[in-house]
Amino acid sequence: MERFLRPTMLRAGPALGLLLLCHQALLARPDSSFVAAVYEYPSILIADPEALTDRSSALELMNRNLDHYEEQVMAAAKQGVQIIVFPEDGIHGFNFTRRSIYPFLDFLPAVQSGKWNPCLEPQFSDTEVLQRLSCLAGRGRLFLVANLGTKQPCNGTDPGCPPDGRYQFNTNVVFDDKGTLVASYRKQNLYFEYSFDTPSVVDHSIFETPFAGKIGTFTCFDMLFFEPAVRLVTDLGVKHIVFPAAWMDQLPLLAGIEIQQAFAVAFNVNVLAANLHHPLLRMSSSGIHTPHGSFWYHNTESLKGKLIVANISADPGAGGPQWNSPLGESHGRFSWDDGTCEGDADTPCGDPLEGALETPATFHGEMMYDNFTFMPLRENRGRLRVCANALCCELDYRRRGLSDELYALGVLDGLHTVHGTYYLQVCALVKCGGPRWETCGHETPRATEKFDFHIRGNFSTAFVFPMLLTSGMTLQPPGQRGWEGGHYFMRKSQLSSGLVTAALYGRWYERD
Ligand SMILES: *[C@@H]1O[C@H](CO)[C@@H](O)[C@H](O)[C@H]1NC(C)=O
Ligand SMILES: *[C@@H]1O[C@H](CO)[C@@H](O)[C@H](O)[C@H]1NC(C)=O
Ligand SMILES: *[C@@H]1O[C@H](CO)[C@@H](O)[C@H](O)[C@H]1NC(C)=O
Ligand SMILES: *[C@@H]1O[C@H](CO)[C@@H](O)[C@H](O)[C@H]1NC(C)=O
Ligand SMILES: *[C@@H]1O[C@H](CO)[C@@H](O)[C@H](O)[C@H]1NC(C)=O
Repeated sequence: MERFLRPTMLRAGPALGLLLLCHQALLARPDSSFVAAVYEYPSILIADPEALTDRSSALELMNRNLDHYEEQVMAAAKQGVQIIVFPEDGIHGFNFTRRSIYPFLDFLPAVQSGKWNPCLEPQFSDTEVLQRLSCLAGRGRLFLVANLGTKQPCNGTDPGCPPDGRYQFNTNVVFDDKGTLVASYRKQNLYFEYSFDTPSVVDHSIFETPFAGKIGTFTCFDMLFFEPAVRLVTDLGVKHIVFPAAWMDQLPLLAGIEIQQAFAVAFNVNVLAANLHHPLLRMSSSGIHTPHGSFWYHNTESLKGKLIVANISADPGAGGPQWNSPLGESHGRFSWDDGTCEGDADTPCGDPLEGALETPATFHGEMMYDNFTFMPLRENRGRLRVCANALCCELDYRRRGLSDELYALGVLDGLHTVHGTYYLQVCALVKCGGPRWETCGHETPRATEKFDFHIRGNFSTAFVFPMLLTSGMTLQPPGQRGWEGGHYFMRKSQLSSGLVTAALYGRWYERD
């Protein structure tokens, strides 16, 4: 049995839950767990981010956002939280130009980590935001992770120096529970953020905590790239990631909570993900994800933010499988764990689904701007195989309902080039967007059909993210997954709600 915790458990009797957490926080706690928080924040945005303003107006706006951070830090502190994560762009906003963001930038002095406490040593100018964050961490006696814009002057002695004589970075900062700056990270993979520069060397930003050991940090779009995300977890021994984001959900494959959970599962790490909350901009999706279960938040109906608090293991990999150890042995033919088709009165065997009469054998369809090869699921159970370039995907499935919803198995082996360039190998079982096969690959957040499935592919890359998204933007434990006989597989039965996406999302980083 996998332990899986849904956010409803957090909400069950808020007053009582709060009291319990409060009470437990006062007791000595074993080293093996810690209390983390992420805050999904509906940030206050300025009306016209391209307009030029001055430092004092910029600070006025940023302090209004920091007032909300302060409330959350105090609420978290009361619940015994040891580390809190705030979203990307939460203090200053987004859609600036290089010039218009300038008054919003703090100066980040080149101090050694662990040597500067901006709250106690406010000697540098233009460090008001850093000072306030540092004071908040000290007051709440917790580690605090936030994202802000920073500037670093440069000149002609540096050939990379921009013409305006300064670097501007999208930066995460981490303060310890006394307010000392213990890490900073400059975003490597900018997402069309023309106001910022890419650092000339990749920051591998890691900090030590007394409760969870080494924690690494990166930002939003970085999640899809090797540097620094994968390097941190494969080469640098990081077991926990703190992840500020301003992520816009994209279905079927890149909803925020979907990739956050997949990263935690693929690498056997905890992911503490804080997103902005702006439903009109498709921004919602935060969570505290472990390889075994997730506390998540996704809500496009409310405009309110959400503080997610969870007590999680300091050793996410305890007893779990390794992400990168192809077993080399085939485990033989897959069989369902709950009896034969004949024995199940609710699910007729092999009856074609209504509406599937003129079903094409395979067809091409666009999914998230990529040309997928799809094969329809025609029966109530069956086995399919579909290939593109060097990747073949196989699916054993059994539908558990009798809906007329259309599903297809899609395969892609190619370079994605829209809104970023990255090479993908993907096997995906998706619910189609509507009642026609042409809608396969279109967005749809709802489904009623429950599946048992085993999906696998002969990937050329070792980096495969198992994704599972169910109806109404919900997560389920990913089931069994891993390598067998040169294939990566995921196997799942007993879904508790309708299947939206079950995918093996492979990244072939060398081919970017
Ligand atoms: C966290 O969970 C562990 C293990 O379940 C428990 O021993 C500990 O008391 C919990 N800590 C808090 C603060 O709730
Ligand atoms: C920011 O820019 C994006 C992309 O151009 C646009 O879709 C979005 O509406 C803008 N957001 C705001 C708050 O201006
Ligand atoms: C140029 O920048 C470097 C590094 O910041 C600094 O040490 C040096 O003093 C600067 N030189 C001039 C002429 O400003
Ligand atoms: C998708 O790929 C197939 C096979 O390579 C090709 O025949 C088809 O024209 C492509 N579709 C689009 C829209 O590019
Ligand atoms: C995957 O399987 C197909 C069909 O057997 C084969 O053509 C292809 O080379 C395989 N890919 C890899 C990477 O082994």
